[in-house]
Amino acid sequence: MTTVRPRNQPVSMPSPSVAAVRTHYDRADVLGRILDHLRLDADAGAVGAPGPPLDPDRLAPVSEFHLGGRWATRALAEAAGFGSGDLVLDVGSGVGGPSRYLAAVNGCRVVGVDLAPGYGRAAFALGRMCGIGDRLFYLAGDAGFLPLRDRAVDGVWLQHVSMNLPETDRLFVELARVARRGATLAVHEVVAGPDGAEGLRYPLPWAATPETSFLDQPAALVGAIAGAGFAIDRAEDVTGATLAWLADVRARGAEAVETPSALEVVVGPDWPTRARNVVRGVRDGQLQLLRVIARRM
Ligand SMILES: C[S@@+](CC[C@H](N)C(=O)[O-])C[C@H]1O[C@@H](n2cnc3c(N)ncnc32)[C@H](O)[C@@H]1O
Repeated sequence: MTTVRPRNQPVSMPSPSVAAVRTHYDRADVLGRILDHLRLDADAGAVGAPGPPLDPDRLAPVSEFHLGGRWATRALAEAAGFGSGDLVLDVGSGVGGPSRYLAAVNGCRVVGVDLAPGYGRAAFALGRMCGIGDRLFYLAGDAGFLPLRDRAVDGVWLQHVSMNLPETDRLFVELARVARRGATLAVHEVVAGPDGAEGLRYPLPWAATPETSFLDQPAALVGAIAGAGFAIDRAEDVTGATLAWLADVRARGAEAVETPSALEVVVGPDWPTRARNVVRGVRDGQLQLLRVIARRM
């Protein structure tokens, strides 16, 4: 961990880091920047507009906000095996790359919850442009205090979010609360690596400074999932596969359209520095990537 968890805080109160994390992500007019970047009109794909709905794949480079891009989302979705019509909660849904994939490919209905209201607004608009808006819902909220009733969802998706939350145990207790019995939990997270995260360089994609970076040890993350009432089906270290993906993307250059290369549009002008720092952290053993599939008992 790069920061000591404030374990003495009452668990019923949002952490003070939440406001800092929201400020870190929320950026003015994310939707406008994405549309400008892709040279799209605001009514592209809209009912009555000329042309077919937008292909969600076209949005992948600006909306798969995690290591492994679309490749990682596809692999996690295959491992999770969500069914058509399942209601899946996407925790920290960002600008909606993964939720559009689950709606378009698996036929899921997805409710995304994210701290950054601008991300949710962009995700909502982009889902409509892709013609799958009837399966996608987005709410502004804190993963630690979800605006959902008990046992509301058939599945839970968590991709690159826990390193922004100081209380991992509390996060999974909350996910267990909203998941129905038998629901699948699909997790793809960045955690502390074997060499420890202390030497990481900042800014990173999820934090400008160590104060809002809360990296778990892999065993602590898996322990928090199990401790909240999920049975672990499998927990895999996917660091090697992610490094292979990075090498492949580099080799293919501009052809590798599924890479999050254009995330500068969403994150800001220091994206290349942040991307470089996180890749260096993975290569140097300070960070690892973990994929976990579990079932709500
Ligand atoms: C690195 S991005 C990942 C976005 C998305 N899961 C993806 O993979 O494309 C992290 C996201 O988590 C959200 N987030 C961070 N802390 C959160 C919290 N406490 N509650 C809800 N969302 C949070 C951020 O606003 C951001 O959109």
